[in-house]
Amino acid sequence: MKVLGIESSCDECSAAIVEDGKRILSNIVATQIEIHRPYSGVVPEIASRTHTEWILPVVRSAIAKAGIAESEIDGIAVTSRPGLVGSLLVGLSFAKGYAYSRGIPFVAIDHILAHLYAPHLEFEIEYPFIGLLVSGGHTIICVAESVEDLRVLGTTIDDACGEAFDKIAKFYNLGYPGGVAIDRLAQKGRSEAFSFPFPSLHKGDHRYDVSYSGLKTAAANQLDQFWNRAYEKSPENIAASFQKTAIDILLSRLERAIEDTGIRRVVAGGGVAANSYLRKCLSERKDLQVAFPSLALCTDNGAMVAGLGHYYLARGERSPLGTTVSARVARFKRGYP
Ligand code: KG4
Ligand code: ZN
Repeated sequence: MKVLGIESSCDECSAAIVEDGKRILSNIVATQIEIHRPYSGVVPEIASRTHTEWILPVVRSAIAKAGIAESEIDGIAVTSRPGLVGSLLVGLSFAKGYAYSRGIPFVAIDHILAHLYAPHLEFEIEYPFIGLLVSGGHTIICVAESVEDLRVLGTTIDDACGEAFDKIAKFYNLGYPGGVAIDRLAQKGRSEAFSFPFPSLHKGDHRYDVSYSGLKTAAANQLDQFWNRAYEKSPENIAASFQKTAIDILLSRLERAIEDTGIRRVVAGGGVAANSYLRKCLSERKDLQVAFPSLALCTDNGAMVAGLGHYYLARGERSPLGTTVSARVARFKRGYP
């Protein structure tokens, strides 16, 4: 079965053709990074307008790159939640119209589940695993019992991990997107230059939760207070110290999840899973089985949507044409239901 996957939940306009939920025939990702760069962040209205212009050529190039005829597409999968409402509406409306006109089924996909599906496109993944989903909008530590059965253990109580990278990069004018810029600068910096604080959430209710507001304030407004004066106060050193603390916070919560559940399989996903320090720390852990999608499958892409779409379509699930989008998904909040 060949599935067309469409992803437009934020600033990437992407379409992919995936066969049998495994084989990527094409995965076109048109990024709006240059368009949003002057604002140092995604401007929702500009993102959705750009999707309206790009969606058709992106879908056409995904079909052309896959080397298939349009008539060979068996179904469509599209991200409908969570994300920017205007951006999601462009992809969903396109998918509905396309499916209706071709008389093929479509299925609306959860973006979070799609990120956790991404490693299935490259590896054999066994369940259960601890999922670590870290992106610009989400920070989720969960137990995945199956493709769709997730139990959220922890999340952020304020900013998402990627959002913290983006804000610090914006504050110091380090580049855009922030996570990529900080990761690059950090390669040349010393993480001992600043001893940034760890959030003091550690008991009971917040055992697996993270918080980035304290680190953000420390790195932006109280830099001198945490400065080890043996090192230079340089952008490289700020980046390296910030990155180490931001990722160590995540790793400390992940460690608790591993210890408490006894599950030693970890699957990472989302844009921050591209972070080189996170990848290095986890890949050094010989006691864990860690699956990291390749960089192109960590950030938003249509292939993960098509892959998960196959899972639903193959067992006969269809979404009605009345399906709409939603900015948030309650089940990814801690303690739900
Ligand atoms: O998954 P994604 O493409 O979009 C969302 O669903 O949010 O993730 C984008 C986020 C941004 O915050 C970006 O700064 C961050 O992922 N990011 C990184 C790296 N590459 C992207 N953060 C840290 N290190 C990286 N190498
Ligand atoms: Zn994402």
